[in-house]
Amino acid sequence: MKKHKWYKRKVVIISLGILFAVVLAMQFFRPVIINPPVTGNVKVPHEVQVILKNSCYDCHSNETNLSWYDKIVPVSWLVAQHIKKGRSGLNFSKWDELSPADQKAKLWESINQISHGAMPLDSYTLAHPQAKVSQKDIKVLENYIWSLRVNNKPQDTSKIKALNHQTEAVKKAQKLAQIPKAPNGIAYIADYKNWAVISTTQRLDNGTMRIIFGNDIAMKAIKEKKISPWPNGSILAKAAFDEIEDTDGNISQGAFKQVEFMVKNDKKYQKTNGWGFSRFKTPEMVPYGKNANFVIECMNCHQPMEKNDYVFTLPIRQ
Ligand code: HEC
Ligand code: HEC
Repeated sequence: MKKHKWYKRKVVIISLGILFAVVLAMQFFRPVIINPPVTGNVKVPHEVQVILKNSCYDCHSNETNLSWYDKIVPVSWLVAQHIKKGRSGLNFSKWDELSPADQKAKLWESINQISHGAMPLDSYTLAHPQAKVSQKDIKVLENYIWSLRVNNKPQDTSKIKALNHQTEAVKKAQKLAQIPKAPNGIAYIADYKNWAVISTTQRLDNGTMRIIFGNDIAMKAIKEKKISPWPNGSILAKAAFDEIEDTDGNISQGAFKQVEFMVKNDKKYQKTNGWGFSRFKTPEMVPYGKNANFVIECMNCHQPMEKNDYVFTLPIRQ
């Protein structure tokens, strides 16, 4: 009996020894994380810069500054992967490569990801709690983006003209029996305008407003709090419009820009995280995308909402 116990202990000690040796050996296979030169750092006010540097630069710049524990294999493999992916989607050190409109859009997207709790990644803030973005920081970022707001003064009548001009064209297109399908085979759904409105959002960087609709299955799922994941058959639609602001600051809906759909079917759309994506643009409701790969763009931006079944609206964690 005693002998048996000793034997067991020996096995444990040897196993730990082997594990230690393996982890030690693995250190020779550390991924190389280099900092390429900074070609054009993001130009934002100091207080905004501080937040980005503190919370985002490790993965979204060429000024990655890792802690010693980030460099230990196997953690460092994950870290290297995050940096590679992070830099490819958003790199504050190559800011001058983006057009001014894209710079604004990326900042807007960043604030969106932060306020939805998707960025910085949870796995990262767990080990780097100082990188968490506080509510105060979010206010600073929001105030900044607010200051970049495009000016929709009524003197700029082009938006009102665009509204009057397009209404007829859109109506005509929507009456067509056959609006071409999106390159991934998803058809336009004219009925979305009759669905319930889930929320409306404003995009301050380019002066558009969005209305998000849900079909009956989606609305039932929201009511029953069964959206993690969303049930098959749920469809979410997001319609974007110009925003027209009068001198009193009242905002009204301008010309229709586009509508996007996310159709849930975990089998049919397994390759795209269970959602079928499509976008139709005005005035003829032309499907977006040269080929079926257009969905990569949608997926990349919705990816950080993975824990929310890739949906921005209605975060579960509030
Ligand atoms: C630990 C690494 C890490 C940190 C820190 C981090 N991110 Fe990310 N970020 C990623 C990865 C990885 C992706 C790619 C999507 C994914 O895998 O979720 C990403 C994607 C994004 C995207 C979408 C980019 C695209 O493809 O259009 C935005 C925007 C973003 N992050 C903003 C931020 C902001 C703002 C911060 C700081 C508050 C931040 N991230 C901090 C790793 C990180
Ligand atoms: C630049 C980032 C980005 C890209 C690219 C993107 N989306 Fe989104 N999407 C968002 C954000 C942010 C929201 C949340 C609503 C808002 O603020 O406009 C959203 C919301 C949606 C919604 C409403 C459901 C939800 O998640 O809240 C649909 C439907 C949608 N997007 C479809 C698409 C489709 C289809 C594509 C590709 C053709 C696409 N999106 C590409 C950022 C993006």
